[in-house]
Amino acid sequence: MLRSIIGGAPADATARAVDSRNPADLADVVAQVGLGEPAELVAAARSAHAAQRAWADVPAPVRGQVVASVGTLVEANAEALARLVTREIGKPLAEARGEVQEIVDTCRFFLGEGRRLYGQTVPSEMPDKQLFTFREPVGTTMIITAGNFPVAVPSWYLVPALLCGNTVVWKPATYAAASADALYQLFARAGLPAGVLNIVHADGPETFAGLRTSLEQGLVQKVGFTGSTEVGRAIGELCGRHLQTPCLELGGKNPMVVTEDADLDLAVEGALFAGFGTAGQRCTSLGTAIVHESVHAEFLRRFTAAVGAAAIGDPTRDVLYGPLLDERFAVSYEGHLKSITDSQRVLGPTGRITAANPRPGFVGDPERGLFYHPAVVDGVRPGDAIFDEETFGPIVGVTGYRSLGEAIELANAPGYGLSSAIYTTDPGKAFAFRRGIGAGMVSVNNSTSGAEAHLPFGGNGRSGNGSRQSGMWVLDQFTRWQSMNWDYSGRLQKAQMDVAVIEPDLAFRL
Ligand code: UN1
Repeated sequence: MLRSIIGGAPADATARAVDSRNPADLADVVAQVGLGEPAELVAAARSAHAAQRAWADVPAPVRGQVVASVGTLVEANAEALARLVTREIGKPLAEARGEVQEIVDTCRFFLGEGRRLYGQTVPSEMPDKQLFTFREPVGTTMIITAGNFPVAVPSWYLVPALLCGNTVVWKPATYAAASADALYQLFARAGLPAGVLNIVHADGPETFAGLRTSLEQGLVQKVGFTGSTEVGRAIGELCGRHLQTPCLELGGKNPMVVTEDADLDLAVEGALFAGFGTAGQRCTSLGTAIVHESVHAEFLRRFTAAVGAAAIGDPTRDVLYGPLLDERFAVSYEGHLKSITDSQRVLGPTGRITAANPRPGFVGDPERGLFYHPAVVDGVRPGDAIFDEETFGPIVGVTGYRSLGEAIELANAPGYGLSSAIYTTDPGKAFAFRRGIGAGMVSVNNSTSGAEAHLPFGGNGRSGNGSRQSGMWVLDQFTRWQSMNWDYSGRLQKAQMDVAVIEPDLAFRL
């Protein structure tokens, strides 16, 4: 049975055990997972807290070497890790391999940061005085992640947090616990001292209670959370009480605008991948295609043809998408399907793929897993649940617009702000969209999903609190600036008051 690992040792007490199952083959139990009580999170936070000072004392370039080793170990185990991810959460193997590559890329970026982690020297307004800035680790971090990217997205937190000298308690999704444990093992083998990285398996309410106590006891200085807007709000409230700003990466209802001059085939290809890649279960998945009325019918014709022809099924084979991640996602997705109204037009069958509700050309046996038809719903408008809410499943809404201003208004209407896309051949429209859209990320002639690992990643509004991950930008999440001034004049020089004044002749005119 998989257990939490605290201070390098498996936890002995578990509240209860659950199975992590292969969603493409529900009879296949990938792992039994022992879930902890809130006290387990607190114990992990205490262990991380105790290890933090010594870890911060390890020179940053040496910490960078550990990050380099993590990257090397992940690369050497890439195929096994990708296969485990596919087996546990059902994303197609090609995507799982890409996900593992994203960890390697993240390690490669941050191993160099160990030799940078720059501070600045800043001129003083007085002689014989020098100013400096230093990046200091925030302390102990608690990182709570989702299971749709069970290893890549955690690495976006773990790698920079550790590189910067923080210690970590990581609470992965329970339905992706085996993938998480595998990643933990690779980090541990890179030589992290005991307590620097701890992994805790627990359910949501227990995690929240454990986090609350850890914050109250001063054991956690930074929280990272990837998941739903609703839980993100609760975590934000809790952290606010402790004067902390969490790093929140929440849901999305990502729009894709298709202008009248767009390359429609390219737009269809982008919509297919963005809408149905990972079975629509990325926070960056396409929500609604907002299509100029002059090309709306033609876009819909080509898009539904592409959706109809797509291979769906066994994720170990060459498919566009496999099953939903886990039973709980299937249940919530079915709830969203019920919110389709009569004023909307559903193209093709929806719901679970079964012998009674078949999909021609299905790859494998649909009855074994949580497979769903790809749904395209035309005529969605603001005020409709399908337009306003993240659905986290294989469904794309389509709507029309007349002016670019209207398209931007529709794109912003749901109030999320993670990713967005515009397909156009007109640079003026691309830049107008960039300025008008509230999203943290904008794609031009590219999918809403599939961000590269070294650009700032994050959202606004219902998608997050403006925090950014990845690249050098995430350093501001895991370090705090400390400023230092050093006066070596041998006397007290008072800032603002003892500053030399050079008198100008401001009355001078040519
Ligand atoms: C997520 O779904 O939480 O940009 C992250 C993308 C991926 C990451 C998605 N690189 O689609």
